[in-house]
Amino acid sequence: MLPSLLSLSLLSVLSFVSAYKELSNSSLSAIPFPAQDFDINNGAIMAPILQVRVAGTPGIEKVRHHFVNYFAQHLPKWELTWENSTQPTILGKEVDFANLIFRRDPPWVKPGHVERLALVAHYDSKMEPDGFIGAIDSAAPCAMMIHAARSIDEALTKKWDEQQKSGKYDHLTAHGIELYFLDGEEAFKSWTHTDSIYGARSLAQTLERSVNPAMSTYRNGLEQISLFLLLDLLGASVPTIPSYFPTTHWAYMHMSNVEKRLRTMRRLKSSPNHSNNRAKGMRKVKEPMFMSDTKKDTHNAYWMGGQIEDDHIPFIQRGVPVLHIIPGAFPSVWHTILDDGQHLDNPTTEDWAVIVAGFSAEWMELEGYMPKQAAQPRSTPKVEDSLEENEWELDNELPQHDEL
Ligand SMILES: *[C@@H]1O[C@H](CO)[C@@H](O)[C@H](O)[C@H]1NC(C)=O
Ligand SMILES: *[C@@H]1O[C@H](CO)[C@@H](O)[C@H](O)[C@H]1NC(C)=O
Ligand SMILES: *[C@@H]1O[C@H](CO)[C@@H](O)[C@H](O)[C@H]1NC(C)=O
Repeated sequence: MLPSLLSLSLLSVLSFVSAYKELSNSSLSAIPFPAQDFDINNGAIMAPILQVRVAGTPGIEKVRHHFVNYFAQHLPKWELTWENSTQPTILGKEVDFANLIFRRDPPWVKPGHVERLALVAHYDSKMEPDGFIGAIDSAAPCAMMIHAARSIDEALTKKWDEQQKSGKYDHLTAHGIELYFLDGEEAFKSWTHTDSIYGARSLAQTLERSVNPAMSTYRNGLEQISLFLLLDLLGASVPTIPSYFPTTHWAYMHMSNVEKRLRTMRRLKSSPNHSNNRAKGMRKVKEPMFMSDTKKDTHNAYWMGGQIEDDHIPFIQRGVPVLHIIPGAFPSVWHTILDDGQHLDNPTTEDWAVIVAGFSAEWMELEGYMPKQAAQPRSTPKVEDSLEENEWELDNELPQHDEL
């Protein structure tokens, strides 16, 4: 029973992976930028996250309300599940932690027959220093996830409606997507295995224990995670993200390719060649890729995965594939009072939101369903205006398909 279930799920994973299909240039370049919604003072998505939100305090309760209200109002098809726990802490008292999971599955899904791309960030802030906001850590990543969700929401509806009408879908495996907003990542005092990642540890255990009905494609909630895509410490300028794990290097390559194509089409706002920056007279400089670690050899290269402790630990320990998007050198504001809204690099933050949205759209195979024309920003050049490949000083070549 066990081995046959296992091989069934492996098979479906493999067939899904080989079906990964790039978005066309027009779909990719039509993904909207968050613009005003990421404004740090009054942006509908970003501003309400930028407040002190220590686990177990009224501040974090307000941020939870923001998530719940935003989804209820703008993304009502994403179903909310709570994963709550009460845990002893180093403070000598018990604290209540609440993870929020927002999910969209195809409408015909049977429990135990769906696997999901999980976009993950923590939404609590560190207790010290007093007044710490944690903009890169991880208010901005939370905002990026919401932007990704809303950028693909309509396309998911269109695709699934069409599939349901035509009856053309796989009855054993369906592909959904979910966002995990995790509580209690930060240590109350200093980071130890027991004083940190309270929410992630609880969620991994809960999912592992949520055993699916007999004859399910996936045995339990953990097996239903096709990729655990963890965003952390994003929003500072010129980030460099290593590929940490050989097992998910192929996914890193896909995401890097999304970035590279957006860059080549001059979409990214942090690019020296974006029309806004060129208008400001910026000179030719090396185009900084966020994800340039594409040359690794999966057999021999040096992999840093496992050296950074983060919310992925309890998941990777249980065999979940993890793509960790965190800079190799932490931004200088990390864990200081300077990690606030003012110190975010807005173009970089917006670019990440679009890259995550593009990657999610590809993962969900939404080509043909995404809008073909972006509403904004108006100043963005059209696709025809894109650069010739050889005009670029990119750090790496486009990943080839046979390398992936
Ligand atoms: C989980 O905790 C949150 C925050 O305290 C609360 O709003 C929610 O109702 C709880 N959900 C469940 C299922 O216990
Ligand atoms: C998509 O855009 C990239 C970058 O501008 C370009 O190299 C590629 O040829 C384009 N593909 C198609 C099918 O137009
Ligand atoms: C920006 O575009 C100009 C003109 O097309 C080109 O010469 C230059 O190399 C580009 N800069 C970068 C960083 O690619």
